[in-house]
Parts: sequence; C-alpha cells; structure tokens
Amino acid sequence: MVAARITVNGKNTPIAPSTPHTTMLDFLRERGLTGTKEGCAEGECGACSVLVARPGVSKPTDWVAVNACLVPAAALDGQEVITSEGLAVPGAPGTPPELHPVQEEMAVRGGSQCGYCTPGFICSMAAEYYRPNRCTHAEPAHTADPADDSDTEHGPNGFDLHALSGNLCRCTGYRPIRDAAFAVGTPAGEDPLAQRREQSPPAPVATEYTRDGSAFLRKSTLAETLQLLRERPDAVVVAGSTDFGVEVNIRSRRAGCVVAVDRLAEMRELRVESDRIEIGAALTLTEIERRLDGSVPLLAELFPQFASRLIRNGATLGGNLGTGSPIGDSPPVLLALDASVVLADAEGEREVPLADYFTGYRQSVRRPGELIRAVRVPLPLSPVVAFHKIAKRRFDDISSVAVAFALDIEGGIVRKARIGLGGVAATPIRSLATEAALEGKPWTAETAEAAAPVLRAEGTPMNDHRASADYRSAMLGQSLLKLWAQTTEAVPS
Ligand code: FES
Ligand code: FES
Repeated sequence: MVAARITVNGKNTPIAPSTPHTTMLDFLRERGLTGTKEGCAEGECGACSVLVARPGVSKPTDWVAVNACLVPAAALDGQEVITSEGLAVPGAPGTPPELHPVQEEMAVRGGSQCGYCTPGFICSMAAEYYRPNRCTHAEPAHTADPADDSDTEHGPNGFDLHALSGNLCRCTGYRPIRDAAFAVGTPAGEDPLAQRREQSPPAPVATEYTRDGSAFLRKSTLAETLQLLRERPDAVVVAGSTDFGVEVNIRSRRAGCVVAVDRLAEMRELRVESDRIEIGAALTLTEIERRLDGSVPLLAELFPQFASRLIRNGATLGGNLGTGSPIGDSPPVLLALDASVVLADAEGEREVPLADYFTGYRQSVRRPGELIRAVRVPLPLSPVVAFHKIAKRRFDDISSVAVAFALDIEGGIVRKARIGLGGVAATPIRSLATEAALEGKPWTAETAEAAAPVLRAEGTPMNDHRASADYRSAMLGQSLLKLWAQTTEAVPS
C-alpha cells in the first residue's frame, strides 16, 4: 500500500507522523500552514475552513469548504486540499504573492479586523466564488434597488450568504463581510482553481494508516468494508466525521479502529424511481440538496436549517441516523416522509421503516457489523409539508424541538398525516396520537385547535439547558397552529 499523502496547495505531503486521530487542522498547522485557525474545535466557528476537491454536481470537481478541525488528516489520503495560503496567486520572482480576488475584497471592504476568523471566511467565500452557475442559478437575485430588501441572502453576483453560515466573527461585524461577498466577481478564465473544476477530483484511495495502536482504514468497495466490519465489529464508522471529530477533540475519544465509508460509490448514489427515491447514506447533505434541487420540498426546508454549510458539506444522512441522537434534525423530517433505512452487512440487506429503527437513547435496531447503506423515501410525496426547528439561533444551532409535518389534504379533508418529532423523547418519534386526531377531519382552524393539545401532550420532554419541558410542549402545540396558519391559503379544497 502506498504511504498516505495529501496534496496541500499543490505540494504532495506525507501524513506521517500524524496519528489516525490527528485532525486536518493540526496536520496543517504542524506544517507551518497557520492561516488555518482553531476557534472551537467542534465545527461551530469556521476558523478552520479549508477547500477540498470533491466530485461536482454540474462540473467534474467542486471546491468544497469543510471544517478541518473535524476531519482526520488520514481521511484525506490521496485528496487535494487548498488553504488560505494556497489561494493567493504567486507573484513574479522576488515579489510577494497577489491576493486572491476574495482576499482582495475582504481587505478593501474592511472585512477583517483582528483577522482570526478571516482565513476561514476566505475559504468558505472562495468555495462559493467557485460554485458553478453561481451567477446564473435561478435563485432569487438580490436586486440593485437598495429599497428592495426582499432577498437579503443573495447578492447581485448570486453569492449565497448561507455559504458563510458556519463562519463566526467576533470583532468585525458582518456587514463589511457581506459587502465583500456581494462584491466578488466571476473567476477569470485562466484562474487555475476555476480550470481545475473541469477535471475529475482525485479518485478515492484505499487507506490503511496505522500508528500508536490505532488504525484508520478505507476500503475500495462496500463488500470489502462489510467484510472488515464483520471482522472488526468494534470499529467506529465515519463519513464526514462531523460527530466523531467533536468526540475526538472535546471528549478525547480514541478508537482502536476507524473505518471510513464516505467515498464508497455504492453509498453515494441518488436514484429517483417511479415509487421511491433512494438516497445513498454517504452523500453529503449539500450533495443531496443540490441534486434534488427542491424536488422533495420537506428536505428542501430542512437543509438550510441543518447546522451550517460547512457541516452540510461533510455530514450525511447515514451519520445523522447512525448516531441516533434524539435531537438530530433529519429524523423528524424522514419520519414525516415515511422513510425507511436500508441496512447492509456481509450477509445481505434488510429494509427497516425509520419509525421502527430507533429503540432507545442513541440505540437502534442496527446490529454490530451493519451499515446504513441508503435511505428510501416513498413516492408520491404528501403535498402539505413544513419543518419547524425551534432553536436559539436561526442557523448553526441545535434544535430544542423539531417538528416535521407531511399532510395529504383532499377536498378539504386530511386524508393522511405524518408528523415527526425531535427533542421531546429519548428518540425521534412519530406523533401517532396527533396524526389520528387529524386524519379524516376537515383541515380547519377548529381541527388544528382541537389537535394542538394532543400534540402538546406527545413525548416525554425534559428540562435541560436548551429548554424546559413546558416550553418544549408549548412549542409542539404552537407548531401545529403555525402550520394551519401557513398552509390554509395553499391547501387545495
Ligand atoms: Fe471552530 Fe473548526 S475550529 S469550526
Ligand atoms: Fe476578529 Fe473576525 S476579524 S474575529
């Protein structure tokens, strides 16, 4: 096996002597690339953002920004990474490098004061700068009329401010940073990173990186991975490492064997069939969002509210379901969609309705040696949907309560109701009593008001530092009333 190496700013760099748990952030800083900063070490500030060449949605390669503090360096074996230092354009011999256009806009518009957050902002901004179709995508465009503030999240240049939702700045204030983002142009034809998008990203490589008594392993195929998991049922399975990285950094977790599944082709397919959509469990949330392009409206409501763009660039549905957290944001939505999970092991596959998947706090029917290979969403979709995430911040936060609704309403009558809840029990749950209270009833204010107390009484919410049990219950009932208010004009009668 070839020694593990990463191409960093064009330079082939061995991973050794890092350990399998050394983060990409520490790997870079130990090699003098100290532009990449540590602010939180748990994926919340973006000071560690770097660019990785990944399979693109509309071009062979996308430059994707990720949190280097969460990703083990070994996970990027064979891959290409650009840091803030690598964005600057080399100058003529004997002269300093020229600023990248994104760096230039940040500098001239006052987007940096102490500068600690700036390299991370620069990398997130650069990923959006290079996003194919940024200027032509049919997203609502920010208008040139300063009196019209109907879309404050997109610039006239197509820049989507959600690209920066995972970057925090303590001292500049966000207005100059937004000014810089909305001022960047389009990449010049000779821009090497723009040109790089036309070629395929590095193919995944099999990795066997062992040091200090632990191993980071990546197999080439799903069958090899399942065989490995049969031999090592104690292995920790990782995809984007957005959860595992926090465990490593904050709780000093060390695993004897880490198995990466994020590049397995068999887990990265998205298939739309006549009666269902099958979503590979190792596709990132950003990939799913861009490939579905709004065709599953409930998922389209979920994605912008799920953590941040930096996290969504690594996080997967398989990971969010695999951790079994009662406050994960995807389970309520997938429960409302009546989704099922495809579990695979060395013996074969089985499909389990998500409503039967969770068995207790962070526990599920998934057996040792089993992987979530895919998530299946049945078609047709219910037309009346909403995802209400109640959290202290609008973005980049953990929900106190999450409620997802999917209703079939025909002739003004609720024919079918599916409601998924998060944050009100030891597991994500279906709101069965409320579903029964709605089905067969006219979709009226009276029905919503009668069912709201039923929804308030669902689950066993608890008091914690995010919210009280009473608040959580109150939010459940309000959520149904909000749904009624939101949807009455749109409901077919
Ligand atoms: Fe804060 Fe990585 S150091 S997100
Ligand atoms: Fe100081 Fe952003 S410029 S934290």
